Amino acid sequence: MTAIPLTLGRPAPGGYSAAGPLVDAHGRTHRDLRISLTDRCSLRCAYCMPEQGNTWLARPSILTTTEIARVAAVAASVGIGAFRLTGGEPLLRRDLAEVVAALSGLRGPDGPVEVAMTTNGIGLADRLDELIDAGLRRVNISIDTLNPDRFAALTRRDRLDEVLAGIAAAARSGLRPLKLNAVAIRGVNDDELCDLVAFAVAHGAQLRFIEQMPLDAGHTWDRGAMVTRAEILDALSSRWGLTPAPGRGGAPAERWLLDGGPAAVGVIASVTAPFCGDCDRLRLTADGQLRNCLFATGEFNLLPVLRPISGEVSEAAIEETLRRCVWAKLPGHAIDDPSFLQPERGMNAIGG
Ligand code: 5AD
Ligand code: SF4
Repeated sequence: MTAIPLTLGRPAPGGYSAAGPLVDAHGRTHRDLRISLTDRCSLRCAYCMPEQGNTWLARPSILTTTEIARVAAVAASVGIGAFRLTGGEPLLRRDLAEVVAALSGLRGPDGPVEVAMTTNGIGLADRLDELIDAGLRRVNISIDTLNPDRFAALTRRDRLDEVLAGIAAAARSGLRPLKLNAVAIRGVNDDELCDLVAFAVAHGAQLRFIEQMPLDAGHTWDRGAMVTRAEILDALSSRWGLTPAPGRGGAPAERWLLDGGPAAVGVIASVTAPFCGDCDRLRLTADGQLRNCLFATGEFNLLPVLRPISGEVSEAAIEETLRRCVWAKLPGHAIDDPSFLQPERGMNAIGG
């Protein structure tokens, strides 16, 4: 995984290949770009944001639809085939359907690109038709608890009903596979894991549990308190027979069939079983910073490239920034290393 195949083009002065797909110094080809559309959110999940005192990104620095489309077009031309819109909460972006339409018209390495969205579901029911018409192909909806009081305590907003309406709308739509994300949290929802899976199955969806990661703005993450993949599987096996599902590829979620399938459950064990060796993901923040990892401590600033003081925007300069960013990616996140430093941005300002 360390050598770069010779077919990928001549190394440019910075070490990265100047042609071909986006390959990092460890041989991973990047196919997936996550685009955060805003750092604002309609909820205040404790593992992501503080209740008050958020410092928001400066409005003038937020990329416009045109700027996002420009970066996406260059990304598609160098091998990005999947775009995922995230936040904060992407539904807070008024021009969301325009962003979806601009991206869904692009062609990636294998034909038309896939445009997906990760959302908390609030307001989704009212806008899903419009988004599907614009070319949205998949949604992942976050739901950590089915209990209204717990929901209000965890998210500091009493809005579970609106999330459930969003999930119901997605279930009625033709968008499949439909995935529901739950962060497993000790003392909050760790007695609800089976109920969450059963709820997903009843909606024709697949539940994916995510191990809690050190990305909270309050820096309160505690390795010892985290609910692990092993504990999640242990809890689920009290209700279902779990057999590993084949064909994971580079996907973050490991999947298990429930009682032989076809229903399945996924676990994203970013902390106890990291999948960095297969990572093909790259991130663009709402304020125009490229990040090669959720846990990266450095960023590659596209704003000066997208807003040159003089002259036209250069697609070549966008491509060069993408290549430099990917090339600099570290082999893994080293959360367990004593020297690990949590990124300065919270998850809401990075994009899930
Ligand atoms: N650890 C794990 N998952 C997180 N998410 C947000 N913050 C964290 C964290 N600290 C999840 C959200 C959403 C997805 C985008 O990332 O719940 O499902
Ligand atoms: Fe990719 Fe970074 Fe996540 Fe590892 S931690 S899978 S390198 S984004």
